[in-house]
Amino acid sequence: MKYPLMKNNLLEQDLLPVIELLKTKDPILTSGPKVKEFEKAWSNWLGVKYSVFVNSGSSANLLCLALLKEKFPEGGDVIVPPFTWSSDISSIMWMGFNPVFVDINLSSLSLNTELVIKEFEKNKNIKAIFLTHAQGINGLNKKLIEFINKNDIFLIEDVCESHGVVSENNKKAGSIGDLSCFSFYYAHHMSTIEGGMVCTDDEEKYEVLRMLRSHGMVREMDNPLRKKIWIDNYKDLNEKFIFTRPAFNLRNNEIGATIGLEQLKRLDWMVKKRSENFKLFLELLPDWCYKGFDLEGQSNYAFNLILKEKDEYLMSDLQKRLEKNEIEFRRGSAGGGNQMRQPYVRECFNFTEQDINKIAPVTDHIHFFGMYLGNYPELSSESIKEIVNVING
Ligand SMILES: Cc1ncc(COP(=O)(O)O)c(C=O)c1O
Repeated sequence: MKYPLMKNNLLEQDLLPVIELLKTKDPILTSGPKVKEFEKAWSNWLGVKYSVFVNSGSSANLLCLALLKEKFPEGGDVIVPPFTWSSDISSIMWMGFNPVFVDINLSSLSLNTELVIKEFEKNKNIKAIFLTHAQGINGLNKKLIEFINKNDIFLIEDVCESHGVVSENNKKAGSIGDLSCFSFYYAHHMSTIEGGMVCTDDEEKYEVLRMLRSHGMVREMDNPLRKKIWIDNYKDLNEKFIFTRPAFNLRNNEIGATIGLEQLKRLDWMVKKRSENFKLFLELLPDWCYKGFDLEGQSNYAFNLILKEKDEYLMSDLQKRLEKNEIEFRRGSAGGGNQMRQPYVRECFNFTEQDINKIAPVTDHIHFFGMYLGNYPELSSESIKEIVNVING
């Protein structure tokens, strides 16, 4: 492909510190001081108190839902957009909650506030909102935040594809909800090979997340006073082996953290370049493409190309042209389009075509008439012009 979805963003400067680490005598590469350092640096960058480094964005999703399960052991409903990644919905399902799909706005690619409020009016069993800031666009607005605060609703922000988005009150996306998740996978704004982060301002949640990440063990906690309570209560156990809850091993390691620390130095620059690229792309796009995205605070993940009209001929012609010109794209945009159409959801909840049309018409429009193309900081304006020329043709 001449224009792939993503170029490798691991540079020599990211790998040199890894080599230094490997050259030390008897390096211990499992989770250690570098992980702690990266978590601290990430919290500072994001503007939160605590962060927990895990081995993927999906693991970050799972940890958030595992924590929600501790808060609501009886389960319940969780509002989620059908325009997201599969692990958001899978983690809701695995933790025994029921996903309630609420459609998105085309302009924000995120939950439609009016529909969220309507859902709360008719459904008294909603335990949380799991919102996705999709494709580098801010998914939260003043009205939704006010509604969430006024009604004391548990909010989880998925920022896996939107690092650096600036949301309401100049706060970064991921610093507003009770919990937030990030991914550091290959194609994302920054990479730690595989990796993810869960962030929160709440010390108690932080300590639970640390334990959930690592077998549920007391020794994973930071706070000695909290540790002591467990140790005193379980005097029959070796204090290094107190397993407090059913949990997982979702830890990352020193190599990932070392790369993360280096990448973090460039993150603001990468975010700036990505958003400038997207603005140029939109400027040059023809008028038959949707251009009304909320661009304030954006940190584009990939170029969104959505037809205004449901024009199957144009869509198929466009795909052929992109393929012929070696421009990689993903039809349906984020995560394979409308998640209600994916077998893991559709077969589980027996969604009919009518259900899908009724619940998620906007997501469905993107599913059939939308796609994304690669955006990365190194993409030059000449390249963007060349890509748009192909589209215009
Ligand atoms: C919105 C969203 N959530 C979660 C994930 C999962 O992240 P990972 O691939 O690191 O597991 C992704 C991955 O692209 C994503 O886009």
